[in-house]
Amino acid sequence: MLCNTNREPRTPPTSEMKEMNRHRLSLRAHSLADMRRLARRCLPRVVFDFVDGGAEDELALRRNEAVLAETLLLPRPLEGTSTRDQSVDLLGQRLAGPVLIGPTGLAGLLWPRAEVASARAAAAAGTVYTMSHASTVAIEDLAREVGGNLWMQVFMYRDRELTRAFSERAHACGYRALVLTIDNQVPGWRERDLRNGFTVPLRLGAQNVFDMALHVRWLARVALGPRFTLANYSREGDSDIMSLAAKMASLLDPAASWKDVEWLRRLWDRPLLLKGLLHPEEARRAVAMGVDGIIVSNHGGRQLDAAPASLEALPPVIDAVAGRIPVLIDGGIRRGSDVIKALALGAKACLIGRPQLWGVGVAGETGVAWVLELLRTEIDRAMALCGWNRLSDVNRSGLFAALRHADPEVVPLAPSAPSGRAQARG
Ligand SMILES: Cc1cc2nc3c(=O)[nH]c(=O)nc-3n(C[C@H](O)[C@H](O)[C@H](O)COP(=O)(O)O)c2cc1C
Repeated sequence: MLCNTNREPRTPPTSEMKEMNRHRLSLRAHSLADMRRLARRCLPRVVFDFVDGGAEDELALRRNEAVLAETLLLPRPLEGTSTRDQSVDLLGQRLAGPVLIGPTGLAGLLWPRAEVASARAAAAAGTVYTMSHASTVAIEDLAREVGGNLWMQVFMYRDRELTRAFSERAHACGYRALVLTIDNQVPGWRERDLRNGFTVPLRLGAQNVFDMALHVRWLARVALGPRFTLANYSREGDSDIMSLAAKMASLLDPAASWKDVEWLRRLWDRPLLLKGLLHPEEARRAVAMGVDGIIVSNHGGRQLDAAPASLEALPPVIDAVAGRIPVLIDGGIRRGSDVIKALALGAKACLIGRPQLWGVGVAGETGVAWVLELLRTEIDRAMALCGWNRLSDVNRSGLFAALRHADPEVVPLAPSAPSGRAQARG
């Protein structure tokens, strides 16, 4: 049995927690788990749980982390060198490292104009920021204010013109890639949100008014900051966020199919990635259709709770794609060594969702920069300890599970017991 994060004891909120700068972060956040703990203290429960939670019993959420924790690297320290290079060539761009920021909607609930803060941190770190369809800053504003290497995430709507409009707006503003998320056409059943009475925008109810009042700094920032809006939709002529949130489920088309991917492929002439793919047959089909990249993902465990961990689904997808296009992965990346494990199994790069949100919720741009810095340092340390000086040297032979099974193609072991890291979420 994996532990149930819903029953974790809560640290008392601390309205008096000092504003976090880089120095304070360096003293208090030595890992992403520390960032999560700080975020938990900074944010009201309804907001923290919106970020932290998964679908139904949260099995897929915990499995992502547990499978990564149970996958082991096999060091060869005497192969090492004094310098390591973690730069990556991805879709025609050179990135400073293999960690990208994935799309996360409603980030403005954590920090005013959080998308600008995160995108700035990503640009400074030499990596990609992916804007969510449900951003609280508009496509055009982010491009104007930040620039950098921006990607845009879209869905397939019943009204295909809305998908077209988002894509064309992103194209006009210079976004370098389009990410079509395919695993969210029916919204996941997130029970923490239901229990907490989570609404968009947040409504003060008996359940949460007291908790929000205890988080004075958050309240001051968000309540007194710019008006919260789903900025991309507002520009489509509907500025009534309340009705938009309610309409979201009806906007998405559960009947979206490969025909739509083909249509989007014709529409978008820059790199196109599919996100939320787990099946090797779908990967083959994506390659045949001219898709430029795949993001193996179970949506951070927020959609199909019975889905495998992203890392478990990765090897068959890698085999199906056979090096023709880059395969990326997200879900449960909490350590630099997790990134190395995914790369050892064939991923080109990893995306993070929640860690970026913990960072922005704790300290805005500084917090996200710190999250990226922690991962960069951990990747470097793991490379040094394992004996790799370039990420292109990392392959399946560096996984301990591979040797244990005397089969270089073997997938990592599924956990038989709760992992220490999964238990440590708290
Ligand atoms: C609060 C939140 C909002 C998200 N919003 C989106 C979204 O708008 N579009 C999307 O494709 N994925 C969305 N995701 C999924 C992430 O892009 C990513 O797949 C997932 O968070 C990765 O797992 P991790 O959080 O363990 O890193 C969201 C995830 C979270 C936690």
